[in-house]
Amino acid sequence: MGKGFYISKPLGFVLFGLGVGAVLTIFALSVVYSQEKRKNEVNARDGTRMVTTAAPHSTSAPSNEPWDKYRLPDTLLPAYYNVTLWPRLVPDEQGMYIFTGKSGVALTCVKETNLIIIHSNELNFTLTSEMHHAKLAGLGGTSAPVILKTWFQIQTQFMVILLKDNLQVGKSYWLYMEFRGELSDDLGGFYRSQYTENGVKKVVATTQMQPTAARNAFPCFDEPSMKAVFHLTLLHPPGTVALANGMELEVLQTRFEPTEKMSTYLLAFVISEFTNLRSPSEANVLIRIWGRREAIESGQGDYALSVTFPILKYLENYYNTTYPLSKSDQVALPDFAAGAMENWGLVTYREQSLFYDPKVSSNEDKEWVVTVITHELAHMWFGNLVTMRWWNDLWLNEGFASYVSYLGADYAEPTWNIVSNIYIFKYYEYILPPASCEGTQNELSFSPEERSDGAATGSEGVWRRRSCFLSPNYLHEYAYSNTVYTDLWKKLQEVVDADSSIQLPASINEIMNRWILQMGFPVVTINTRTGIISQQHFLIHPDAVVDKPSDYNYEWFVPITWMKSGSNMGQHWLLTKTASYEPMKTDTDWLLANLNVTGYYRVNYDPQNWERLLTQLTADHKNLNMIIHRAQIINITLALRTTKYLYEEKEYIPWESAIRNFEYFFLMFDRTEVYGPLQVSLFTYYKKKVKPLFDHFKVITSNWTRKPPRYMDQYNQINAVSMACKTGVKGCSELTRMWYRQWMKNPDSNPIPTNLKITVYCNAIAAGGVEEWDFGWQMFKNSTIAAEAEKLLYGLSCTKEPWLLNRYLEFTIEPNLVRKQDVAFAIVYISGNVIGQPLVWDFVRANWEHLTKDYDDGSFFFGRLIRGITRKFSTEFDLQQLQRFKEDIAASSFSFGTQAIEQAIEQTKANIKWVSENKVQVMNWLIEQSA
Ligand SMILES: *[C@@H]1O[C@H](CO)[C@@H](O)[C@H](O)[C@H]1NC(C)=O
Ligand SMILES: *[C@@H]1O[C@H](CO)[C@@H](O)[C@H](O)[C@H]1NC(C)=O
Ligand SMILES: *[C@@H]1O[C@H](CO)[C@@H](O)[C@H](O)[C@H]1NC(C)=O
Ligand SMILES: *[C@@H]1O[C@H](CO)[C@@H](O)[C@H](O)[C@H]1NC(C)=O
Ligand SMILES: *[C@@H]1O[C@H](CO)[C@@H](O)[C@H](O)[C@H]1NC(C)=O
Ligand SMILES: *[C@@H]1O[C@H](CO)[C@@H](O)[C@H](O)[C@H]1NC(C)=O
Ligand SMILES: [Zn+2]
Repeated sequence: MGKGFYISKPLGFVLFGLGVGAVLTIFALSVVYSQEKRKNEVNARDGTRMVTTAAPHSTSAPSNEPWDKYRLPDTLLPAYYNVTLWPRLVPDEQGMYIFTGKSGVALTCVKETNLIIIHSNELNFTLTSEMHHAKLAGLGGTSAPVILKTWFQIQTQFMVILLKDNLQVGKSYWLYMEFRGELSDDLGGFYRSQYTENGVKKVVATTQMQPTAARNAFPCFDEPSMKAVFHLTLLHPPGTVALANGMELEVLQTRFEPTEKMSTYLLAFVISEFTNLRSPSEANVLIRIWGRREAIESGQGDYALSVTFPILKYLENYYNTTYPLSKSDQVALPDFAAGAMENWGLVTYREQSLFYDPKVSSNEDKEWVVTVITHELAHMWFGNLVTMRWWNDLWLNEGFASYVSYLGADYAEPTWNIVSNIYIFKYYEYILPPASCEGTQNELSFSPEERSDGAATGSEGVWRRRSCFLSPNYLHEYAYSNTVYTDLWKKLQEVVDADSSIQLPASINEIMNRWILQMGFPVVTINTRTGIISQQHFLIHPDAVVDKPSDYNYEWFVPITWMKSGSNMGQHWLLTKTASYEPMKTDTDWLLANLNVTGYYRVNYDPQNWERLLTQLTADHKNLNMIIHRAQIINITLALRTTKYLYEEKEYIPWESAIRNFEYFFLMFDRTEVYGPLQVSLFTYYKKKVKPLFDHFKVITSNWTRKPPRYMDQYNQINAVSMACKTGVKGCSELTRMWYRQWMKNPDSNPIPTNLKITVYCNAIAAGGVEEWDFGWQMFKNSTIAAEAEKLLYGLSCTKEPWLLNRYLEFTIEPNLVRKQDVAFAIVYISGNVIGQPLVWDFVRANWEHLTKDYDDGSFFFGRLIRGITRKFSTEFDLQQLQRFKEDIAASSFSFGTQAIEQAIEQTKANIKWVSENKVQVMNWLIEQSA
């Protein structure tokens, strides 16, 4: 592993001992918690969406009957299912794509009952010989009671079977049904994906079950803890292959080996004309990479194949547990709502998350592929083998998988320094604006450069000490079963008790409850003159009313890591609201706390200490820049001051850090009609800072003719060019336009450096007119490489012509022009354009009904859309419009997305407040600088 980004021997760092590591691990879990809560709402990577339909607390049940509750009763447990499904890959006479199925489930009765309640949604039951849609038989010589009545509870998505007599405890029964469902293109349940190859339309039948769509494919007990074995058979036409979780045993009528005991949400099946690449036969686990023939044959799956097996082996070793299946398929689907989904043995991906073409794709595309593969494979153990009992503990799965994805990716690509340099750094949350605590979260970035769900954010420290945390024992103890987070605390407590070097001020449970059960996080204020440290609940709106009382009075047990003038380091627990701590007292040293921002809290200091930190930054920016930025400075003037020296900075980390810190800043002041002069001053200021960097890259790339040799510089080159073009550095726009024109002249040979494509497309299309736009659109439509298509999708949103933006918006809702999976992205990209923003807002309001009808996929689509469109809202007028919109849709029958709108309203209020508090300060500061 390469050197850490700011660890500096001269500064006198000493490595932390074991004790501190463990403490940080425990503590940082809170980070994952709140971020996963957010991810539940945003969710780009996995298929997880907000479980709105199934959450027990989401809607009040209309009555007390068991079928009106959202959770299954605890009377029956499934042991195994026999399922046969037959999807039709051509439409029927009515033009509908359908599938038919037969399914049986062996149930064991654990509490006497005369009801069978099983999930089923949007299926029509067709067992014509039966009056009651189902047959019930006893297993092992038991006789079964007669069915009196069967009905469907639409709201709770249950099929309810009332029996004449009770089922007997300890006895097993066989429940059999036949049914028919639609193979629609809604990206959920059993659905279809389409693509064209050599002019021929191909249909793929595929699945996305998480969280609660297995019930749309066949009747089942669709909760994560209802683990069972699945015997699956798929019927499919000649020329197609069928894949499922287990290995295939026969063809055409493909029967699969029984699965391991598993949850329904991890089931998957795919029927397609895909081809595959496979791992060498000496591997003890068969690895296959599946996708469109054209993509596989042109080598887009090669990279995934080369890393998947090593990653799997790495993880086996990491978990000290053998991968339990005989194969691991990775399938790239042309239509896929999330980034990827960790179905056991059959992982599904967006093409962009699995395919990589070295000639066309960028470094970031490659990193994305390797981290997504690792993330999904990490779930094979944590999530699939051991599963959370209920969805509210999902954060544990996700936080862990995100953390492990760095380690695995670092193992697969050791020269990239992923762990120390790129991911951890990139996915950190930055200083502005205050992150949420009242349920609102800021989605700062939505550019394709990001493509992140924020899942990774900050969870780095979390699993660092997995050797103590996740002992193989834990996996073995809970293998094939379910767990809750307190089981983990218990394991961790055992480790802590056994290790005398770890000193904790309280039990793991007591420490963790304060982080898990209280909303938000604290801001710690350190006064170095008096040595007094204190904590307050951090709120977006300082005057917000916290209406959820807390047993812990919104106080946390905060482990504070700190250092003084680079040499003295320490670790101290703040256990009360205010405490005096002598070692932090100083008149001469600079003091920095929350090192590496491993703790989920912000820090503020007395003004004198801030001054000393800034002086130190100017004197020694190489070592301190990152530390200070990541210390999450709250005061805007101070934050601006940390950028003053940037004109002499050439390194990636400080630049990236500065840019990300100020993303919100640019976002808020982007509306020229509102903040014209301020924006001009801001750009003038940054232009001066970035020009030397742009010139530096021109030199080291020999007038932009070659790649910078250092990997980190390849990243920073992107910053140099995009910031230079944004702020109007001379030569930048000319450069991007020249490249783009060259490409227009010769569409078969794209001269644009792969890493700079996004920036170049965007800037050249912004500077150009209809010709540039139409060319970009043509290239988008012709593209057979997902990563390339997405860059164009973004670039096209950059035009400054309102009519082109309007036309682009119209295109986005033409299903044969833009894939459903990309629509929300495209609309949000357009709204990121200052000219597009009002157009999108009008467009979305005008088309709300159509959008909700055709694009509803849970809160996934609308959350993304609303958050993206409203993130620049910062005026009272915006707020009024948003409130009116909320009322309008509440009054209509299309009341989707109200929660997202609620959050957008909160965010807008926060933005208004932030702007009103900071606008004048920023303006004055900028004027001072130019004087
Ligand atoms: C901070 O990060 C560096 C580099 O990743 C690491 O070496 C160091 O131990 C970390 N320090 C703390 C206090 O976590
Ligand atoms: C379910 O399928 C398995 C494997 O094909 C078979 O052995 C078993 O008898 C079937 N169970 C029932 C109740 O049909
Ligand atoms: C299920 O039945 C409903 C009502 O008859 C019908 O509208 C729908 O098309 C049917 N679905 C399938 C897949 O046959
Ligand atoms: C687990 O660890 C033991 C001891 O280090 C080792 O012998 C064994 O091979 C490991 N098992 C796996 C599956 O990695
Ligand atoms: C931010 O810090 C500067 C310098 O210490 C101070 O002058 C200013 O009043 C502070 N602003 C806020 C909002 O606290
Ligand atoms: C750099 O390249 C541009 C475009 O090819 C060319 O016009 C310019 O003269 C070159 N500058 C130098 C210093 O070589
Ligand atoms: Zn995941």
